[in-house]
Amino acid sequence: MRNIALIKSGDLEPGEVTKVEVDGLPAIAVYNLDGEFFATDDLCTHGDASMAEGFIDDNDIVCPFHGGTFDIRTGEANGSPCLHNLKAYRVLVEDGIVMIRLDE
Ligand code: FES
Repeated sequence: MRNIALIKSGDLEPGEVTKVEVDGLPAIAVYNLDGEFFATDDLCTHGDASMAEGFIDDNDIVCPFHGGTFDIRTGEANGSPCLHNLKAYRVLVEDGIVMIRLDE
């Protein structure tokens, strides 16, 4: 297992999403839902859109291109036209740093 630091928890307000680039991985979207952090791949599974440029609606991220939605907590595609899930990462926060855990 490997932990990868993404952002400081204080740098992302509740209700916000941001894109993080990590060497060797696809771009990652990091979300703050009411103080709880989540992370998914940033690239929409329907087209060339950045989820970080979409907006959060309850527990969903709404794609900025065609309005498809994904559950931020699981990556599940739950709104047309999206059919394929986003990869969702395991997230942990330690010492104010938001990290993802990769199984390797
Ligand atoms: S590119 Fe995201 S819904 Fe079409």
